Amino acid sequence: MHLERLFPAFLVFCVSASAVVHERRIPHSSLTLSRRLEADVTIPLRIGLKQQNMNLLSDHLLAVSDPQSRQFGQHWTPEHVAEVFAPANESRDAVNAWLVESGFHPHRLGSSHNKAWIYVKDATVAEVEGLLDTEYHVYTHESGEEHAACDSYSLPAHIVQHIDFITPTVQPNIKIDPRPFHTSPRASFERAAITQMNKPRPSAPALPAGCDQRFTPECARSLYNITYVPQATDRNSFGMLSHAPSTFLQQDLNTFFANFSPNLVGKEPIVASINGGSTDFVNGTTGVGEVDWILQYMMTLTQPQPVTVLQVGNLISGNSISFNEWLDAVDGSYCTSDGGDDLAFDPQYPNLPIGDFQEHSCGTAKPPLVISVSRGDYEFRLPPFYTQRQCNEFAKLGLMGVTVLFSAGNVGAAGTTLGYCRDDNGSVNLNATHFNPGWPAACPWITAVGGTQVKANASDSAGGVKEEVWNQDQTHGFFLSGGGGFSNRFPMPRYQKAAVTPFLNRLKKTNPAQLKHFNPSGRAYPDISANANNFVSVEEGEFVLSSGTSGATPTVASIIALINDARLSAGKTPVGFINPTIYSPQFAGAFNDIVSGTSQGCKGWQGDRAGGFKAGPGWDAASGVGTPNAGLLIEKWLSLP
Ligand SMILES: *[C@@H]1O[C@H](CO)[C@@H](O)[C@H](O)[C@H]1NC(C)=O
Ligand SMILES: *[C@@H]1O[C@H](CO)[C@@H](O)[C@H](O)[C@H]1NC(C)=O
Ligand SMILES: *[C@@H]1O[C@H](CO)[C@@H](O)[C@H](O)[C@H]1NC(C)=O
Ligand SMILES: *[C@@H]1O[C@H](CO)[C@@H](O)[C@H](O)[C@H]1NC(C)=O
Ligand SMILES: *[C@@H]1O[C@H](CO)[C@@H](O)[C@H](O)[C@H]1NC(C)=O
Ligand SMILES: *[C@@H]1O[C@H](CO)[C@@H](O)[C@H](O)[C@H]1NC(C)=O
Repeated sequence: MHLERLFPAFLVFCVSASAVVHERRIPHSSLTLSRRLEADVTIPLRIGLKQQNMNLLSDHLLAVSDPQSRQFGQHWTPEHVAEVFAPANESRDAVNAWLVESGFHPHRLGSSHNKAWIYVKDATVAEVEGLLDTEYHVYTHESGEEHAACDSYSLPAHIVQHIDFITPTVQPNIKIDPRPFHTSPRASFERAAITQMNKPRPSAPALPAGCDQRFTPECARSLYNITYVPQATDRNSFGMLSHAPSTFLQQDLNTFFANFSPNLVGKEPIVASINGGSTDFVNGTTGVGEVDWILQYMMTLTQPQPVTVLQVGNLISGNSISFNEWLDAVDGSYCTSDGGDDLAFDPQYPNLPIGDFQEHSCGTAKPPLVISVSRGDYEFRLPPFYTQRQCNEFAKLGLMGVTVLFSAGNVGAAGTTLGYCRDDNGSVNLNATHFNPGWPAACPWITAVGGTQVKANASDSAGGVKEEVWNQDQTHGFFLSGGGGFSNRFPMPRYQKAAVTPFLNRLKKTNPAQLKHFNPSGRAYPDISANANNFVSVEEGEFVLSSGTSGATPTVASIIALINDARLSAGKTPVGFINPTIYSPQFAGAFNDIVSGTSQGCKGWQGDRAGGFKAGPGWDAASGVGTPNAGLLIEKWLSLP
């Protein structure tokens, strides 16, 4: 019991009398209420102050990213970003005053160094319940883990305008599914079939036979017209995100390189460790394969460009991931001015009893100019304030000239592995018919990469479009299909309206029933796509075939890294946030338009409850604007200022 609590109990009551509910909990089917949280437990109370000028963020981003804008390519420095969006002193002062009036001695209040994140030391549950007019409960997750949350909380009316959100409160604090989008159907692979092909060449190679069965770097070079040889590797940078215990094995990279890019044998990626991330391989843990696979393609397609692995540590309960840790590390302003982390989702708040903050890597890693991320979650599972703030953070990276690419998912419009959709109350089941957008794919300020597959018997001589929408029936009710759909939270950004409207109009004519399964005015994705099927890779000593937008994303990212090299070599700025450019009419001819195939929809008791999205001419929710033609994209991007 803290002495300073005794007097102000009455004040707390007065404050509550004029309070307004600020956030409510999203019920979650895998969490069961078990008990009241004990009153004397201390919780790491943190208050995210409202940032200034957030209403201008998208305009600023589009001003530097829209090829029609006079400021195109004039990215901001991190310092300028931090300064423009920092919370007002008035917000900090008002919240501090409220906390002191409510009985928290000023000595117990702290803040991030630029005063944007206010935290309260050793706050007990009893104190926070009084402050926020709420009750904390313990919920038990299906996995047996316990999580604390309240159903809703209130703030005094005069304080609401200064606060984005408070943690830990309504966030369900579920552990994020570690690998929702990665599947790696393995098949034995005949090593003899692999030939060494790595000579730079003036024109893209002919499509090798069998790319539908075994996709190699040569297939990517042919399909995506990749001939460019990097020249500005000292100024350029390219990276991927890896969460512990996922990491890579150098001997796997070497085996792959020996077959596909012999000059790279022995070449290691640069490792940027975030929050204690380690690349020590722990035999018996899962997660080596995907990072191996991604690095093998990134390094081979962009050689000799050095590739960075942002290796995030801080493993909690063996499977927790969040994106805020690496956002903290690459953007110091996120931990400081932005008020960033949501303690319920980010690993400072792993388990009860709730401990102190952990050491954080803030602003310690320079963000690579292109960051490829092959992980994701579902939009509906995360609180709206959380997704809003994280999406803003991606926009800030774009403002600084960083391209952020995320996988669009591996299970079509349904979003979940078995093809179940979501119902009105968030439950995922066989009778549900709401499509289930992925996260962060649903954020309009990142580039979401969908999946294609090479058509059977595709060849240069046969001509025509060589790819179709990725959709592989894995039998026993399990299917693989490129993610795509429409956000339920983020409105359609103006950069994609002209491209998406014809798709919606076509749907109104051909399949109007489908419109009721999603929000047609939401941010639409994927933005772009690439092959997601049957990648040859080396994982733990074996040649295997891996499928997933986990492979499509680094392929597109590699092409963006090459485009950056070409622009840097020409004395221009990196491409940054690419969506306004790739949707612009002047770039339409630089993609292979995918016009056939359908993504998966909602599986039901008897057949599909709702079909997935059908590809067609132009943008569609199965393949985005299409797959890239690197040679043409470089020409077009070099024509921009
Ligand atoms: C905000 O407060 C800081 C000190 O905490 C001060 O240096 C700065 O000038 C103040 N800004 C404004 C706009 O008053
Ligand atoms: C991992 O353990 C297995 C079984 O003990 C062994 O065959 C394999 O070589 C080990 N892998 C590495 C990379 O050490
Ligand atoms: C979910 O919503 C449906 C109606 O849409 C309702 O029948 C059902 O009881 C709800 N389930 C829960 C767990 O609230
Ligand atoms: C789905 O609907 C069927 C048929 O109405 C019913 O038998 C089944 O219990 C429902 N399942 C769920 C999970 O609601
Ligand atoms: C591919 O070629 C094989 C052999 O010529 C043929 O049997 C098969 O039908 C073809 N598949 C398609 C989809 O055209
Ligand atoms: C491939 O890119 C080059 C430019 O590097 C271009 O001249 C050529 O036409 C492109 N090939 C195709 C098939 O689009």
